[in-house]
Amino acid sequence: MFDVLMQTYHRLPVSFVYGNGALLTGNDGREYLDFTSGIAVNCLGHNHPELVAAIQEQAAKLIHVSNYYQSDISGLFAGRLALLSGMRRVFFCNSGAEANEGAIKIARKYSFKKYGNGRHKIITLKGSFHGRTVTTLAATGQERFHTNFGPFTEGFTYIPPNDIRALEEALDGSVAGFFVEPVQCESGVNPLSDVYLKRAAELCEEQDVLFMVDEVQTGMGRTGKFFCCSHAGVKPDIATLAKGLAGGIPAGAVLAGEKTCDVLEPGDHGSTFGGNALAAAAGNVVLQKLNSEGFMAEIAALGNHLINRLKELDNEKITQIRGRGLIAACDIKVDAWPVLERLLGSLGPGGRGLLLLSAGQKTLRFLPPYIISREQIDEGIAHLDKALKTTA
Ligand SMILES: Cc1ncc(COP(=O)(O)O)c(C=O)c1O
Repeated sequence: MFDVLMQTYHRLPVSFVYGNGALLTGNDGREYLDFTSGIAVNCLGHNHPELVAAIQEQAAKLIHVSNYYQSDISGLFAGRLALLSGMRRVFFCNSGAEANEGAIKIARKYSFKKYGNGRHKIITLKGSFHGRTVTTLAATGQERFHTNFGPFTEGFTYIPPNDIRALEEALDGSVAGFFVEPVQCESGVNPLSDVYLKRAAELCEEQDVLFMVDEVQTGMGRTGKFFCCSHAGVKPDIATLAKGLAGGIPAGAVLAGEKTCDVLEPGDHGSTFGGNALAAAAGNVVLQKLNSEGFMAEIAALGNHLINRLKELDNEKITQIRGRGLIAACDIKVDAWPVLERLLGSLGPGGRGLLLLSAGQKTLRFLPPYIISREQIDEGIAHLDKALKTTA
């Protein structure tokens, strides 16, 4: 039956039927420890009782009304998001690519209205990833994603990350926005330095170029702060979110600061499903959790625990370890894919499998749910150690 699906993904040979916290159960009845959260989506883990209750309750009342009308639950979601993020206005959509499209449209219109034609360029970074639509692929500074899909939306320039001189040179009067991921996750979990982000934000401010952050993977508290860029003490003009925003129900958002909050006017932009009641009900639970006392500090502490456990390993196949909060990676001497396959097996009698991600050919990526326990982290790292030692 899988033959009927377009063959767009390399899929590992396991199919899940049940989830509970940081554990998944396969259709073979085996348990797997989940260090992936559905690629940073199931941030509260699987089957979280409050999330499930909110979704069930909302589904029984009202799943969707269009954006022709007001919606109390979507308004509440937006209000909570603005409060937690410190941003002024929110546009809801359904995915990261769609949020980034919205952000790019805001930057283009802001510049066009204020400065007229010719100041529409968006600078992004080499090694970045911003999505799979034609425009967000154009924003993505990795050639390998571009092959076969041109021509692309014009007006994107890529510069090397963490290079302020390159940014200074690129800001030549033709630029509407500078758009960055605070941690380049898909290309290997490479954080931008706080010093770089701070100076970049200042340069943008000086030239009225919009400072835009793609927090689709790094946001929603994953690094221990609601926005990852807050570690650098910077405030974006535009930020985008998706992935874990509604804990597993598709949701994305474009968040605008004071400068940009009134750029889009009625008719400029829209989304049929954006901010739908079911997504809003789920998102409200995620935001309530993130706002609860000590919740984000615990994410940072769990992240430190994970990194420390990795560093304590005596494993000659691991060459480098890096991360921020509950996004981490390690470079390994062998190809990542066979390791991911090996991890599915149980390495002890009756043991669980482990789900991990890759980020590049020889990089393993860790994105566990926020509710994972220290014991589960220890179990997963011990499992990884064994798998690496037994993979040629
Ligand atoms: C930083 C970043 N931006 C955008 C996207 C695209 O998100 P989506 O797949 O929801 O369109 C991703 C997905 O991995 C991402 O990591």
